[in-house]
Amino acid sequence: MRETSSPTFTLTPLAQPVRSVLLYVAMEAEASGIATALALSAPRSLRASSTAMLRDGEHNGLRIQLVTAGRDALLGVDHIGPVFGALAVARALDTCPADVIINAGTAGGFQSRGGAIGALVIARDVQFHDCRVELPNFDALARAHTRLSLSDAELDAIATLLHASVGGVSTGSSLGATSNEIAFFTREKTLAKEMELAAVAVVARERGVPLLALKSITDLVDQHEPAHEAFVKNLAFASARLARAMPQLLQWLRARG
Ligand code: ADE
Repeated sequence: MRETSSPTFTLTPLAQPVRSVLLYVAMEAEASGIATALALSAPRSLRASSTAMLRDGEHNGLRIQLVTAGRDALLGVDHIGPVFGALAVARALDTCPADVIINAGTAGGFQSRGGAIGALVIARDVQFHDCRVELPNFDALARAHTRLSLSDAELDAIATLLHASVGGVSTGSSLGATSNEIAFFTREKTLAKEMELAAVAVVARERGVPLLALKSITDLVDQHEPAHEAFVKNLAFASARLARAMPQLLQWLRARG
């Protein structure tokens, strides 16, 4: 099959000024330190018929609404992944409109591209790495990139402030990676592999809300240690890094007007 060239979708740029933020963090372990750092309310249900949880508060002149995916009633684990991410953000925007969405969380990184445990990545663009549809135009849509809302200058400013790297993030439904996916990450020069951002970007595009994303590395996809072992070992450390960075990121957002 001849491949059609794949599009890059763009998102609404950041509006001036930002006063309200919807922060989507899939896992409770990733979110609790951020909630403490921002002195947010205790979690409560976002709405009936959803497991998503909402904490809110004022931080440095910004209205913050922190949404997590919530837990599966049967298995007691967090509803991670693109489906729950898109659902939670769409439902949150219905009742909690915001000037910007920030997706923060952990990700797999790549030592060969400068990644390290606890290092931060600020997303320039995102795509799905496990959507493959061998049909004309469907294939191009499956491979599409979405450019997030920050300009190059804004990305560079945040990267300097947070000592973060700027680059491509890739989203799928799995914690591990196949050899084909690893080859894909090399071709795409991916800096972070995770399970929510591309799905959140679909909602941001549909709703016309600017989106930015900050990821902290728990495991190195191109090293020997299995992702699930490194993830469990490093989750608290990488999440603490996110919690330290979030007030700085919000301060930057507030200061830009
Ligand atoms: N979150 C943290 N590490 C990850 C990985 N290797 N893949 C997907 N999501 C992750």
